Amino acid sequence: MLELEQLVKSFGGVRAVDGVSLSVPAGELRALIGPNGAGKSTLFSLVTGHLRPEQGTISFEQRRVEQLRPAARARLGIAITFQTVHLFQGMTALENVMVGAHCWTRHEFIEAAFRLPRHFREEPKIRERARAAIARAGLERWAELPAESLPLGRQRSIQIARALCGNPKLLLLDEPAAGLRGDERRELSELLGQLRDERLTMLLVEHDIGFVSAVADQVTVLDLGRVIAEGTPAQVRANEAVVDAYLGSATGDGAAAGR
Ligand SMILES: Nc1ncnc2c1ncn2[C@@H]1O[C@H](COP(=O)(O)OP(=O)(O)O)[C@@H](O)[C@H]1O
Ligand SMILES: [Mg+2]
Repeated sequence: MLELEQLVKSFGGVRAVDGVSLSVPAGELRALIGPNGAGKSTLFSLVTGHLRPEQGTISFEQRRVEQLRPAARARLGIAITFQTVHLFQGMTALENVMVGAHCWTRHEFIEAAFRLPRHFREEPKIRERARAAIARAGLERWAELPAESLPLGRQRSIQIARALCGNPKLLLLDEPAAGLRGDERRELSELLGQLRDERLTMLLVEHDIGFVSAVADQVTVLDLGRVIAEGTPAQVRANEAVVDAYLGSATGDGAAAGR
């Protein structure tokens, strides 16, 4: 479904992504992990279209997309949930999910949020789709509550439901577990596991090996912009190069500073 070939992206002298190839078959939950500064976020942005590669190609369902804008990629079926929460104040969880029905860029989201009272509220089809997405994400009990009143873990689930509301073929997740408490992480992990069991194709970018081990089919490990390992969670956890890369940046920020 998603094929990256020899992608390169640099910032000044730093090759943040340095010849990365990666292939995600349909129905797989692929995790992309690595220490801080490994190039995960840069690679993520290359896939979403917020950055363009200097070299290399990105194919989605056999179609070259590396020159397409994010909205055009979204229309092909690539959905994104961002690292930071973007929910609209004063709107219920359900309404926040409705916004995802037919808009993908941040600009479109904001526009749709303003249109919402006028058009969306009376739009039974969109409401129906949003209800289905809410149910898929296990959020029925909170559908009519103000989204911003809910705990962070639930807000993340609402974001995922919003992405699901557009019926994506590929869901891109950027550190969805960041900042969550233990029980919230478990719930998120269960939701991702359930979507994986439904055979939704996902690319999950995450720092934490532990979190991805529970849900990922395959894991790709980046360090210094390159793929250093690939395999099942158990395989990459046993890989010495992976252990070294993570130990080398045990404090997190030390790694980025050293580069
Ligand atoms: N916008 C940018 N400008 C300059 N350097 C950047 C920028 N984004 C990332 N980098 C550099 O690229 C490298 C990879 O960063 P990043 O993709 O954010 O890694 P990760 O998400 O794995 O922590 C780092 O050395 C970082 O400092
Ligand atoms: Mg990052």
